This record gives sequence, structure tokens and C-alpha cells, in this order.
Amino acid sequence: MMLDDSKPSIDWDSLTFSFTETDRMYMSTCKKGEEWKSGVMQDYQELRISPAAGVINYGQGLFEGMKARRTEDGRVLLFRPEFNARRSAEGCRRLGMPPVSEEIFLSAVKKVVEENIRWLPPNGKGELYIRPLIFGSGAVLGVSPAPEYTFLIYAVPVGPYFKGGMNPISLKVSDEYHRAAPGGSGGVKAIGNYAPGMMPSQNAKSEGYAEIIYLDAVNHKYVEEVGAANFFCIKDNVIYTPELTGTILPGITRLSIIELGRSMGYEVHEEKIDIDFAMTADEAFCAGTAAVISPIGSIEHGGKITNYSNGGIGKITQELFVALTDIMNGRVEDKFGWTPEL
Ligand code: PLP
Ligand code: COI
Repeated sequence: MMLDDSKPSIDWDSLTFSFTETDRMYMSTCKKGEEWKSGVMQDYQELRISPAAGVINYGQGLFEGMKARRTEDGRVLLFRPEFNARRSAEGCRRLGMPPVSEEIFLSAVKKVVEENIRWLPPNGKGELYIRPLIFGSGAVLGVSPAPEYTFLIYAVPVGPYFKGGMNPISLKVSDEYHRAAPGGSGGVKAIGNYAPGMMPSQNAKSEGYAEIIYLDAVNHKYVEEVGAANFFCIKDNVIYTPELTGTILPGITRLSIIELGRSMGYEVHEEKIDIDFAMTADEAFCAGTAAVISPIGSIEHGGKITNYSNGGIGKITQELFVALTDIMNGRVEDKFGWTPEL
């Protein structure tokens, strides 16, 4: 294998959250009922897959999302990758797939970053987004677990998830669609959770909103999450985020903000958040690997609009953003041990 160490022809100043083909990817397969073994790194390439593969017929698959960052002094940091490993294992169990061990998952992530290192943007310009996939690649006709699974990781250099980076976004509450129902797969990163959100999200975008806020499918009044990020709001200096009920994805950014907020002396409540309460909050933001912390400027719900923080970024949102991204980018000592170095 020849690693190309030349600089990619990419304009680091105009990165967006979009696909770019990179150099190398990780691949491993595992038969149903067996355990995963270490896979191999290979050149980035298209897959050959059976038309009867479980993933394309019945959606048996999940993905993960994580980021590597370059520090000012040239180190390469990951962010709590063991949580992605554990969440993927939970997801595998829910979707009837053999879970990948933490050890194999983490060593694969490391190799993918190492062998695509020239695609890791310079400090402050963006991140290398790492996309692990685990899916049923074996042929199956009846609705049952596939006979073979693939664990694959590719990586892509990315910029901000929402256009305009830290500019506050406008969101709309969906009155019509739900993301997940109790007992379903909303609590894991099943690939099938995402396609049903595309049309509602596109509709909202065509009306000028950046994304949708989903409410719970039972009472139609508690905030669940924002498309592909978790929801937070702040009222009277208390930080609120929806409690994990099985229908909300347990975000690693969410967990980190809860821990960080408490360490900064804030009261953080994980509880049911009535949309009417959220509409009276002082600040709001959404949080995720891709979104990091994205301030919410306004929410539309049932014809009413709430504007947060006078169109700017709320004080506590900004404080959390700085504290979190300082750790992620290695600008401060990582007292939590969240950022293993490559
Ligand atoms: N909610 C959904 C539906 C997501 O897809 C994501 C992204 O992974 C998140 C929340 C945020 O999770 P994390 O912070 O682990 O990226
Ligand atoms: C992430 O934040 O990693 C996500 O999965 C969001 C998304 C691009 C689906």
C-alpha cells in the first residue's frame, strides 16, 4: 500500500458538511452467530453487495458518527470514541446483528484516521468526520437477520453542519410527523430512522427553516429531538434537556454537555420538556457530533414563533460552546479524559 502524503486539492476555508471521497476505508465481515475479527484497511472503493442483502431489503443496519480534530500544536484528538463503540453495540443488539467489540471498533477508528490523515483539516478549519457502518450484507429473503454482516468505516473532511456555522438557526415543530415511537428503534442509530425524516425536513427547509423539531408520538407535546441532534433549552439559568425515554438518541454531545454544565456549576435537568415550556425559555440550542452546539434563534409551533436571545447567541449557550470546543480542540487541559490522542 502506498499512502499518498501530498496535500489534497481541497479549499479548507469553504468546507461544508458534505461528502468527499478520501483514500482509505476499513472493512470486516462476520457470519451470523460468530464473533467479529479484526478487519483490513483498503483503498476507498465501492461495495459489491447482493441484491438480497438484509440492509437494502429490510434496513438491517446502523451507523455512527464521530470526529477527529487537529490541535494548534499538531496533535490529533478523538472525542469519547468508546461511547460510539458502546452505542453501536447496543444498536447491534436491538437490530439483531453481532455487536462489534469496543477493542475492534476503537482500533479500526484509529486506523481510518491514520490512513486518511492528509484529509484531516488544519486546526480551526473543520474536522475529519468518521462514519462507521454495521449492516446485514448477506442475502436473505424472509424478514430475518442476514447470514453475514459488514463493519465498515470511511472518513470525510467536514465543516459546519448547519449553513452559517454558529449563526442561530430557525426551527419548526412538526405537528404531523414523528421520528420514533415507544418500543421502536429511536434510541439507536438505525439507518431506517433517517429516511422518514427527509421529506418533513425538506418541506421545512423549503419554508426557510433549518430543521424540524419532533414531539413525542404519544402525547404530541414533549420535545424529543431535532432531526439529527439533541435539544436543550435554558430558563432562569437552569439547563434542560429531554430525558432519555428510548425514543430519543442518547447523544454523546448531549451527555458531555450535561456533565460539563454540572461541572460549571449549572443545574441540569433531564426531564420531559413540554413544547409550551420550551417556547418560554431564554435560550435554546441543539447538540450533536455534526451539529456540535448550534444555537436556535427561533422556533415556530402552531402558528406562534418564539425568538431566543434577541437573535444572538445566548450567554450560557456560548459558555457551553466555548467550554466544549476548547476541550475538543485541545485548547485547555482535558480534566475529564474525553479526548484520547491518536
Ligand atoms: N439525535 C440523532 C437522531 C442523531 O442522529 C444524532 C447524531 O448522532 C444525535 C442526536 C446526536 O448524537 P451525538 O452527540 O452522539 O452525535
Ligand atoms: C452525527 O451528528 O454524527 C449525525 O449522525 C448526524 C447526521 C449527519 C445524521
